[in-house]
Amino acid sequence: MHSKQKCWCKSGKAYEECHKALDNKLELLKKQGNNVPTHKMIKNEKQIAGIREACRVNTLVLDAVERQIRAGMTTEDINKIVVEETKKLGGIPACLGYEGFPKAVCTSVNNVVCHGIPSKKQVLKEGDIVNVDCTTIFKGYFGDSSRMFEIGNVDERAKKLVRVTKECLDIATKNLKPFDHLGDIGYYVSTHARENGYSVVVELGGHGVGLAMHEDPFVSHVGKRGQGILLVPGMVFTIEPMINEGRAGVFVDENDGWTIFTEDESLSAQWEYTLLMTENGLEILSK
Ligand code: MF3
Ligand code: CO
Ligand code: CO
Repeated sequence: MHSKQKCWCKSGKAYEECHKALDNKLELLKKQGNNVPTHKMIKNEKQIAGIREACRVNTLVLDAVERQIRAGMTTEDINKIVVEETKKLGGIPACLGYEGFPKAVCTSVNNVVCHGIPSKKQVLKEGDIVNVDCTTIFKGYFGDSSRMFEIGNVDERAKKLVRVTKECLDIATKNLKPFDHLGDIGYYVSTHARENGYSVVVELGGHGVGLAMHEDPFVSHVGKRGQGILLVPGMVFTIEPMINEGRAGVFVDENDGWTIFTEDESLSAQWEYTLLMTENGLEILSK
């Protein structure tokens, strides 16, 4: 008597009752000329449950930032909120020490695109727009999301950039269906950004996430419709458009090696979700 073959996803279930049907479908789609994701990009139910929890904690940390952020605070104060809230919830800030990053969270103000380092010297002032990008490890799983905050009264131009950037993320999130292409993400994001006169940062993008902070695939925000791998149920990844009011060019601060600025000093905004592809479309796991 021979035992049934176990599924490659390590669910412990028989292959026939687990991912066989998906594999058959992907094989057919591949024959029809599509690029398909690797097995490594597809999470099992247990992993999804763990990632869901990490994402829930990550969202709660950003909620704590949202309740407290205000003019007069330093970006180091934001870091302190993240450290304390994450600890309270039993998580670990993933950014701290990641490839040498010195703080627990990224705080990116005005013309900083992303990867801003919290500092005691940087005071938030009325009119600033700030991205707070938080990644949490909880029981070994990762959740990653970011939000924009307007400090006091912000001028209409900045408000519009913040709003349209959120719309770019929400339009992509709502429209994507299973077996759409990775490039469709960039299509939705860049179309909406450009319709509003904005440019899209190309050097940085979203990513697979869940078992590590950054996994394959790289998620471009300028991709082309119908191109790239298929997005299949069980994939967990971020969409995190960085949208500039001026030109798309960016550069890295040569002193700290991290902070990414717009080349033309124009404003930049970013929003990020961790997303799960389901049979019915994208589910937001962390926002
Ligand atoms: N949270 C960021 C992202 O969305 C990664 C920050 S890495 C750090 O991918 F080292 F800068 F913190
Ligand atoms: Co992030
Ligand atoms: Co991310």
